[in-house]
Amino acid sequence: MTPNIRPLVAGNWKMNGLRDALGTINEIAQSSEDSALSKIDMLLCPPATLLYVATTLCEDVPLQIGGQDCHANKSGAHTGDISADMIADCLGTQIIVGHSERRTDHGETDSEIRAKAEAAIEAGLVAIVCIGETEEERKSGKTLDVLKTQLAGSVPDNATAANTVIAYEPVWAIGTGLVPSNGDVEEAHAFIRSEMASRFNAEGEKMRLLYGGSVKPSNAAELMAIANVDGALVGGASLKSEDFLAICKATAGNLG
Ligand code: PGA
Repeated sequence: MTPNIRPLVAGNWKMNGLRDALGTINEIAQSSEDSALSKIDMLLCPPATLLYVATTLCEDVPLQIGGQDCHANKSGAHTGDISADMIADCLGTQIIVGHSERRTDHGETDSEIRAKAEAAIEAGLVAIVCIGETEEERKSGKTLDVLKTQLAGSVPDNATAANTVIAYEPVWAIGTGLVPSNGDVEEAHAFIRSEMASRFNAEGEKMRLLYGGSVKPSNAAELMAIANVDGALVGGASLKSEDFLAICKATAGNLG
């Protein structure tokens, strides 16, 4: 945690969730009013097919709904793509960009991811920019170099603490049950903080830095207690309301 930064716990449903999963979103939405959760922000990013109905379930509760990706353009001939304006129009508030699955499955580059983040910000939304090293990069001691390059390439010049969140997700920790040591998380987050602070000054000091990769109810409190970890980006465990809520409560509990 960073003093005076309000944590964010974000759930990324990836390509999971048919309409019957709206019940899970509703359960999380109803529980989000729990006073134990009032000190954190909560976000769920369901597949685009559920986005608008999900936001209607959250109209009067603090659970936010977001997108998992967007196109860099506002509109146009891009079959199958979704613009940041469309997500804003569906009352989404944040958009994940540059997730490692998009970097791998769709060959997205840092400059494309930066353009998507710019589009999200232009639409008035928060861009959650994902970065992280592969197992091979970690083993060869290149982690911090990779993070430096991804941050420099993917984070827009107009990033502020209000419009941008950085999610550190080691690729080898996503969906594997593997988690870096506390010391490795601390080192990566301290590095990201110093990079953001040297580029964006006070805004970089206040920017939220999330950890993602096999966050579960059993490890959330420990991970969230690490310096400069200001919340979590949760994949698999966000699909079950009780697990996601337990992670949110563990995060809020760390605030004392
Ligand atoms: P996981 O995914 O929690 O299932 O490891 C994290 C992510 O990809 O954001």
